[in-house]
Formats: sequence, C-alpha cells, structure tokens
Amino acid sequence: MAELNFPYHLTGLRNMETDHFNKIFKLTKIYKQKILNKTPFEKILEDKSIINLFFEDSTRTRTSFELAEKKLGMNVVNFSASGSSISKGESFLDTLKNIESMKFDYIVIRHQDSGTPAICIKHTSSKVINAGDGINEHPTQGLLDLFTLTETFGSLKNLKVCIVGNISHSRVALSNIFALKKFKANVSVCGPLSFIPACIEGLGVNVYLNIDDAIKNNDALNILRVQTERDAATLLPSLNEYSRHYGINSERLKNNPGIKIMHPGPMNINVEIDHKVSASENSLIFEQVTNGLAVKCAVFELMNEI
Ligand code: CP
Repeated sequence: MAELNFPYHLTGLRNMETDHFNKIFKLTKIYKQKILNKTPFEKILEDKSIINLFFEDSTRTRTSFELAEKKLGMNVVNFSASGSSISKGESFLDTLKNIESMKFDYIVIRHQDSGTPAICIKHTSSKVINAGDGINEHPTQGLLDLFTLTETFGSLKNLKVCIVGNISHSRVALSNIFALKKFKANVSVCGPLSFIPACIEGLGVNVYLNIDDAIKNNDALNILRVQTERDAATLLPSLNEYSRHYGINSERLKNNPGIKIMHPGPMNINVEIDHKVSASENSLIFEQVTNGLAVKCAVFELMNEI
C-alpha cells in the first residue's frame, strides 16, 4: 500500500522510489550548506508536534532528529522507555494509545523489535519515521550513507561498496543494500560465515570472507559495529580473534590507500576499526554525522508537503 511508504511514512528503504531518494538528496545538499554556514532555517514545521520514542539507546540518531526538528520549528517531546511508565508494567500498545490521545503530528521510533514502526502506523494517526527497528531497517542511516557516497564519488552506478561485519544482525546493512542496489552500485559484504546470512546472495550481493580481498577490490567500506547486545559475540571465537581477521587498521589499508571508510557508529575502537583509521583522510565517519542532520531536515520537509 502506497500510504505505508514515503512520503506518508518512512519505515524503510526497501520500497522507496528512486525519485524520492533523488528529491531527498537534492534537499539534503541545500540543508547541509545551511548547517555548514550556520544560516538560520525557515521554521516550516512551526505548528507541528513530534515525539521521539526511543526504546533503545542512541547518540547520533536521537540528537540529530531532535536538532533537525527544533531547527524546523517543531514542538518536540522526547520519550525514553527507561524513566517511563513502561517500567511500571505498561504495555507498548497502551503506551501508543496514550501517545495517540495527544495527537502528535509525527512519531520517530527506535525499538529493539523489528516491525514496530508498522504497529505505530496501525495504532496512531501520526506520520511515522523509523529510527531503527530491531534487525530490520534503519532508513535515515541508509539515506545518509548514500548521500555521503554520492557526495564523495559523484555517482553510485558501478561504485564498489562493501559492508563489513555482522550483516545478520544489522538493520544498517539491509537499508544500505536495498538502497545501493536501486542505484546500481556493486554491493558486497564481508565477514566470518557466522555473520553472513545464508540467503544474502539472493539480494544480488557478493560475499568476501577475506577482508584483504574486500579492501583491494572496493571503493568504500562501510564498517559495522560488532553488536554484543544482539549476541554477536557468541557467534565469534572472541572479539580479539575478530579484530585480528577483520579489524580495519592502517596496515591493511596499504593495499588500497584511496579507499574510503564509513561507520554508522558507535565504534568499538580496536575491534572492528582502530582509532588511527577512524581519524584518517580515508574516513568519512564524521561527515556522515553532519549529513545525517541534513538528511533528516530533507525528510521532514518532504513529508510535510503531503
Ligand atoms: N548510527 C546510529 O544509529 O547511531 P546511534 O545508535 O548512536 O543513533
């Protein structure tokens, strides 16, 4: 159903039309210039109310959503599961019913369970934006990653991008794969077999088991965090072992000195990446964060148009 997709809601990138990506990226470019120049924003959402529902911790997504909302003039309410009546036993659905009673225009939701944005759409009249649901999707991360790649390389067509790490547990990986494939990028994944879903090649993605091959053969690596909170560590002999075989360090990058390195954050320094690489000229990691703020402004502007 079209009404479940952007620009009515933003639940994922799987069904987003390329025309909508292009509109988002065009506006993101404008918002990024305003951010960099510290130009005041037009308060185009001045009369709108929004609640940021965070059932999982966040630094980048949460703060950039809040800043984008405030820059655009919204009335912003922040909700964390900890400190709410959920700790007294109130259910997720009852929480939603109470939120619906306050008639927010927008809900941003991050939740540990896949599919929760769709439940919000079913039980509220708000426009819903997924800020990361379980192991399903993280659409604003996918959008900011694609914008960063476009800004750096000019075009995504035939660009060789490898997503490295715990693909099985990664909503970032799925959103990136869905989006990059729409723009005809050459997408691969790399990690130990226990991190790679058996069906991944069905998405048109190549698999590298050796990180040095992945470095040699790609234009950019998107390095994922080893998610210990999702049992990832139990899929590995040890974090040291993972770091030894897959950790990105300067020595390894000598095989492809121009390669660009991305990471959605938070980084486990000295597990999947070392500090030197994260702060090197190869790194786009902090550019991604600026782009994340601009992308969210663009998403809000387009969702506000309908
Ligand atoms: N990239 C990302 O989702 O980071 P946070 O968990 O800090 O929001």
